[in-house]
Amino acid sequence: MSHDREPWWKTGVVYQVYPRSFQDTTGDGIGDLPGVLARLDYLKDLGIDALWLSPIFPSPMADFGYDVADYCNVDPRFGTLADIDRLIAAVHERGMRLLLDFVPNHSSDQHQWFKESRSSRDNPKRDWYIWHDARPDGGVPNNWISDFGGSSWEWDAATGQYYLHAFLKEQPDLNWRNPDLRAAMMDVLRFWFDRGVDGFRIDVLWHIVKAEGFPDNPRKLDHVQRMGEMFDQLQVYNTNQPEAHEISAEMRELADGYTGDRVLIGEIYLPFEDLVKYYGTPERPEVLPFNFGLINVEWSAEAVHALIAEYDAVLPPGGWPNWVLGNHDRPRIAHRVGEAQARVAAMLLLTLRGTPTVYYGDEIGLPDVTIPPDRVMDPAELRNPGKGVGRDPVRSPMPWDASAHGGFTNGEPWLPMNPDWPTRNVAVEADQDGSMLTLHKRLLALRRAHRTLQLGDIHLKPVQGGVLAYERRLDGETLLVTLNLTAEPALYALPALSRALLSTLPDDPATDGSLRANEGVVWVLERG
Ligand code: GLC
Repeated sequence: MSHDREPWWKTGVVYQVYPRSFQDTTGDGIGDLPGVLARLDYLKDLGIDALWLSPIFPSPMADFGYDVADYCNVDPRFGTLADIDRLIAAVHERGMRLLLDFVPNHSSDQHQWFKESRSSRDNPKRDWYIWHDARPDGGVPNNWISDFGGSSWEWDAATGQYYLHAFLKEQPDLNWRNPDLRAAMMDVLRFWFDRGVDGFRIDVLWHIVKAEGFPDNPRKLDHVQRMGEMFDQLQVYNTNQPEAHEISAEMRELADGYTGDRVLIGEIYLPFEDLVKYYGTPERPEVLPFNFGLINVEWSAEAVHALIAEYDAVLPPGGWPNWVLGNHDRPRIAHRVGEAQARVAAMLLLTLRGTPTVYYGDEIGLPDVTIPPDRVMDPAELRNPGKGVGRDPVRSPMPWDASAHGGFTNGEPWLPMNPDWPTRNVAVEADQDGSMLTLHKRLLALRRAHRTLQLGDIHLKPVQGGVLAYERRLDGETLLVTLNLTAEPALYALPALSRALLSTLPDDPATDGSLRANEGVVWVLERG
């Protein structure tokens, strides 16, 4: 069977760059596009296939770029349109792809559209946002809670109505039921596709349209406070409406009008059975919905086994899987499972069936960085101090070498670096056989060398004493992955004629299937 015609995003590995924290070239302590350009050879050498850049558009930075003031330009802190054109060309010259972050649910309140919309009730753009009268008693139109806490409704005294914001009040929700707004946003996709970007990660896609009539959300019976007030209610009417599927199908259709297998990856936090509906159908395809299962799973062989099986069981025919260990919103993998298991997690991510996305810094084992109260930047933390919702710890600057500020900037970094940056940085790890970076390079090279890892079927094996195991099979090749998710040695009954290809630990693994504490191994099963 030939797999040569598979789209790049099925075989490739995506790498998320958080541009503010990648590489500064101007000395303002904030990363920029020329900085990303300067580090492209690193990414190529690492072995990834595509970069996704978190938002780089003009923004007041109330939510660090997820409050977009102009969808078709570049924030001067990051550079210029010429810089992004140079970056697109340089990425393509190296045989890689570039994805941008499309934020369709809301704009900044400083976007020209919103300024017009709020200027008067009969402005032509009034209906581009979601405005609602007060209740007779002056109260908010319904009980919806913003994901950053407090009511989702903000009173506008000048025009005497409330507007809706799922996130900060500086991020008013756009009204996708308005055909002109919808057309204008589709034009934004065209603007960037025409410039050559290879696709988009789509921010909070399941939020994009709200139930007509704005009914109250039901309250949750169990009072989950883990991530703040929004978890007090079920987001039944403000998210995941049927119309969201029409919109994502329309985006997909637009993308399909371009050559080169452009990809749309949806950020959607929903249970699997609802999540996979965003694949659409073969007749009406939608997006590749991010699978965040590994971010939330309990770290045990049994639980990860169950997660993989559950996801596999709900994937629709032709629905290509994907896996993620972390992103700019969630605690890092090294923080969640510890440094030793983070190596096992890397092997899992890069050998599972489906497109992996690697979060910048995870390839050198960056920890969550403790942020002193006077350095907190994230609005989520500023509004809910001490609740553990802050995202600054996972957005710390990338340490490149042992020079001042890890080579990230000549100025003062916008967030503190990882305290161990003099020893945990790219230059140091590049020279170490046993480093996390070397492991990532080896895993990425192995994945590239074996189409079986990219495209093969997956067959889960029963868990044996804390060891998660699965086979990947393609065209007569069988690879076996055994992952010891415990800090104790473990034994896995290997099939005969298994030969180790790679261990997560630097020296050679045992040949009898015994795994050291925190060890994962990829084996090839030789035909006897
Ligand atoms: C997404 C982003 C997050 C942002 C939010 C609002 O969840 O990943 O960083 O705060 O959307 O745009």
